[in-house]
Amino acid sequence: MIIAVDGPTASGKGTIAKALARHYGLPHLDTGLLYRAVGRQVFLDGGDPDDPGDALGATAFPDHLLDDPQLRDEQTGGLASRVSVHPAVRQALFERQRNFATQAGGAVLDGRDIGTVIAPEAQAKLFVTASVEARAQRRFLEMRERGAGVNLLEIQDDLRRRDERDRNRAVAPLVPADDARVIDTSALDREEAIAAAIEAVDLSM
Ligand code: C5P
Repeated sequence: MIIAVDGPTASGKGTIAKALARHYGLPHLDTGLLYRAVGRQVFLDGGDPDDPGDALGATAFPDHLLDDPQLRDEQTGGLASRVSVHPAVRQALFERQRNFATQAGGAVLDGRDIGTVIAPEAQAKLFVTASVEARAQRRFLEMRERGAGVNLLEIQDDLRRRDERDRNRAVAPLVPADDARVIDTSALDREEAIAAAIEAVDLSM
């Protein structure tokens, strides 16, 4: 059983994917982390994230980079979004994701193109979304909790920019698969979102 969870940043897809993995006893891969590691590696190399060659070179990042807490910050998210437009970068990360998805016993993957590109045969496909306002508000509270100085309108602008880039790129744009079940978490709390996701997966089986 493969469960694909796609959607924009801060939609709640990571929380949902983790909860589904626990509920169904499946391993989970946050594929955004792979793109974040490439973005971070380009930065460490002093390269240009918009240069396809520099970005491709950074796909050879060491595994321990995946544990770097800095991968989660906004700056790295922006770099990830820039390196992820290059087809060669997506190709270089394909096999790792594909192998995870097709391991015996099944898996949960969350990202942007799991249901469309990485595992189009997934039995359950969720597209988790929420309004920009709701997502910015969540990100704002999350960052404030971590003690970061943050501005709600700046976060909204940044989310809009990233959505725009993810939706409009030529390769593997952020769009729901035809057979995805859409879950809008704008008005749902954590538990409600998880319950809706479990219901959607059960209906897909
Ligand atoms: O989900 P997260 O915010 O960690 O992803 C960071 C960036 O990586 C996204 O903005 C997107 O551009 C890219 N990404 C992608 N395909 C995926 C996962 C993430 O292009 N499967």
